[in-house]
Amino acid sequence: MEKLSDRLDRPIVLVGLMGAGKSTVGRRLAKRLNLPFVDSDSAIEDAAGFSAAEVFERFGERDFRDGERRLVARLVDGSVGIIATGGGAFVDPTTRQLLNERAITVWLDAPVEVLSERTARRDTRPLLRTADPKATLETLAEQRRSSYAEAHIHVRSGRGGHNEVVERIIAAVAEHLDR
Ligand code: S3P
Repeated sequence: MEKLSDRLDRPIVLVGLMGAGKSTVGRRLAKRLNLPFVDSDSAIEDAAGFSAAEVFERFGERDFRDGERRLVARLVDGSVGIIATGGGAFVDPTTRQLLNERAITVWLDAPVEVLSERTARRDTRPLLRTADPKATLETLAEQRRSSYAEAHIHVRSGRGGHNEVVERIIAAVAEHLDR
């Protein structure tokens, strides 16, 4: 079988809620396929000189989204690699359309219980600085489901290991390319 990385003519982009494992899984997927990895929140940080959370808090969600939209557009410049997006990027209609045109999009979908446990470990997400972060995640999951469902590929992840998710993404992308 031809190597998956040789068959790719566009990046693989991971989308989904905070805590779904986009960055961790993305980094491992990139390593496994020997491809470069970019995390859009880190790229925002490099460009802005502030962390994604600081940009969000200093300038507000609207400016953050504008910057994110421009940055993601620059990231899908034709090169092949793995891109992990911030959880809200794919909810933006312009970004969603662009990513579905220029990338293979993968929705990493985990139950809210798992997202809640993972995101509780670090206080780096402005949207979850609420009285009840789990309820906020539930609301976001509800609001965003139909956007994430527009990704080319839907991969479920749970408490199991990230490596298993990596293998499932590889199989699903190979199948997608065969279609
Ligand atoms: C956001 C997700 C965060 C970050 C920002 C907003 C969102 O990224 O971009 O805090 O709207 O879901 P992660 O999904 O990597 O946590």
